[in-house]
Amino acid sequence: MPESSTKEVVELNISKGELSATNVRPDAEFVHEFIRGHSARTLLLLHGTGGDERDLIPIGRALDVNASLLSPRGKVLENGMPRFFRRLAEGVFDLEDLKLRTHELAEFVTAAAQRYTIDSERIVAVGYSNGANIAASVLLLHPGIFSAAILFRAMVPLIPETQPDLSSARIWIGAGRFDPIIPVSQTERLAQLLRTAGADVTIRFFRAGHELTSEDIDAGHEWLMALP
Ligand code: MLT
Repeated sequence: MPESSTKEVVELNISKGELSATNVRPDAEFVHEFIRGHSARTLLLLHGTGGDERDLIPIGRALDVNASLLSPRGKVLENGMPRFFRRLAEGVFDLEDLKLRTHELAEFVTAAAQRYTIDSERIVAVGYSNGANIAASVLLLHPGIFSAAILFRAMVPLIPETQPDLSSARIWIGAGRFDPIIPVSQTERLAQLLRTAGADVTIRFFRAGHELTSEDIDAGHEWLMALP
């Protein structure tokens, strides 16, 4: 992190009245970290199952040394492990909960853009696994929130009832050719779904499983640096 970066850690504390000060509905508040950067871009960091708001901070910095970083903690607990939405089994999602959590996250991002005076046109989602799945869900249900997204090990979260317009979104997907959780065909279906909605989608397959590799991060960084 550059030395001059400021770090603001925000804990949910209804009793201290912090929420009313920011006009965020209590349901749409998340424990999160915000680290102000030196450019107009903000990376929204979304961790995987069992992670927290600190997990992806180093990865965010490796992807873009100058961006602001906004990193919420998923509010659903699965055996004590934070996630962004409930699942019924591995890869089988509770769709009602997923939709609700997707709306909450979109609301949180919109309110955080105001709270921290960040450019809402330059928010890039960076998600890993469960975090990539909710990022994809926000793209499909709230297409105006992210200008771009980096999805590490993502799958199709849901099929939207109405086709979103993602014609101005740029999306990079990093997949593991040997991922035991996400078959190659799932990644291709997700890319197809996003392309049908008009998004500019790049997919990279790595010689990896579900885990994130340094090749993913290097390739994601290169792609992000080439964005306008
Ligand atoms: C999910 O539940 O979002 C996916 O199965 C990925 C995971 O969290 O393991």
